Amino acid sequence: MATERTLVLFKPDAVQRRLVGELYSRFERKGLKVVGLKLLKVTPELSKQHYAEHVSKPFYPMLEEFITSGPIVALCLEGPEAVSVVRGMMGPTNGRAAAPGTIRGDFGVSRQMNLVHGSDSTDASAREIAIYFKPEELVSYEPTLSGWVCASDEK
Ligand code: RTP
Ligand code: MG
Repeated sequence: MATERTLVLFKPDAVQRRLVGELYSRFERKGLKVVGLKLLKVTPELSKQHYAEHVSKPFYPMLEEFITSGPIVALCLEGPEAVSVVRGMMGPTNGRAAAPGTIRGDFGVSRQMNLVHGSDSTDASAREIAIYFKPEELVSYEPTLSGWVCASDEK
């Protein structure tokens, strides 16, 4: 089992709707370790870098307008298979199709304003973490409770 790092963004809708504490708490309670955390505004240049795979798609102009419209919170989370664990907690892109119990299913009804971003592969997470965090902004530490979160052969 691999310990992975993944990039999570609380998008402008999550910040404006004052859901940051709620969402942060979900990841904390899940047992994922926060190793990076910052508040920032995404610029059009940063949006194009992050969403490079979508820049040529018809919905990109609206996506850029949305993601640059207000502050976001960027997190780097660490844990066993963190990439797929976070994607599961988020639910599918469209909040209307997302199951209750997922973040998008519990808090949203929109395809665009879907509250969170999570890296969709370990290749993507490495690329995205490097976009949002300098190496020295990521903090390595051993949480006191880690022995109660999973067994030694799961780390
Ligand atoms: P994200 O990258 O933000 O975690 O979301 P995702 O993987 O679930 O969805 P993705 O396909 O990567 O799309 C990125 C974001 O673009 C907006 N979107 N709009 N109008 C459309 O057809 C459309 N499709 C995607 C959403 O905000 C989506 O999260
Ligand atoms: Mg995506």
